[in-house]
Amino acid sequence: MSAIATSCSGPEPLSLDIIDPLHHLASSDDPDLLPAHPPSLRDQIIQINIRLPLDTDEFQRSISLPLAVDASPGCGGIAWPAGEVLACYIARRGKALQGLNVLELGSGTGLVGLVAGYFGARVYITDQAPLIPIMERNIALSNLQSNVTAAELDWSKPLPEHLPQPDIVLAADCVYFEPAFPLLVATLVALVPPPHESAPMAPEVLFCYKKRRKADKRFFAILKKQFTWSVVDDDPARETYDREAITLLRLFRRP
Ligand SMILES: C[S@@+](CC[C@H](N)C(=O)[O-])C[C@H]1O[C@@H](n2cnc3c(N)ncnc32)[C@H](O)[C@@H]1O
Repeated sequence: MSAIATSCSGPEPLSLDIIDPLHHLASSDDPDLLPAHPPSLRDQIIQINIRLPLDTDEFQRSISLPLAVDASPGCGGIAWPAGEVLACYIARRGKALQGLNVLELGSGTGLVGLVAGYFGARVYITDQAPLIPIMERNIALSNLQSNVTAAELDWSKPLPEHLPQPDIVLAADCVYFEPAFPLLVATLVALVPPPHESAPMAPEVLFCYKKRRKADKRFFAILKKQFTWSVVDDDPARETYDREAITLLRLFRRP
């Protein structure tokens, strides 16, 4: 993908965390299935560079964020391809993000939410408890403590009460583990009220996923009961990530 350049040092022998549900994909013949950097990474810092389109900001052509990656807390400790796509897309919003409440689900390293925070959004990056330390480290590395917070939000549990009502919900590369499919949909349902005149404005939901297995269809079968969606069509990078089987969707709660 052209908009992001990541760099990291050479591969180590593959030894995925035993709790990693993507373990079975490691033996795949498809080189695009797993992120470009090895899933056996331990405690490294890579640099994420995102080029901005000409119309985003008069003075700035790119942003560069250091990102700690470490596969030991599980698959979320490395940066996944759909996350990179969503990070680039959200960066195009630039200063329009200022002051908005953004909630990211399954943030892993926190990359997508950090980019929103960089442009002034008030962001909660969330994941399961073992990912909190790496998210907090990444917030500190980019010096975004004033507007980005890491919090536990486990899809198998009720929503934490302290989270503000989001204006934007982000999720990237969260479709990969079948037992979690209904849990993720239930979390989206809890976050997005059905449209109703007296209901507060529903958040915009940007959902980026990479098609990996036929089983992913089951996720969309569950999602379809509660949401409709449309492909985000104003992203100039779309043609590039289409070729990598990555799709960026906007979800809408059914009435
Ligand atoms: C493939 S990783 C993607 C991480 C990140 N969004 C990215 O694009 O780099 C999937 C993420 O979903 C998280 N996840 C899986 N099951 C979860 C659950 N029940 N509750 C919250 N997060 C979960 C994992 O911990 C992991 O961070």
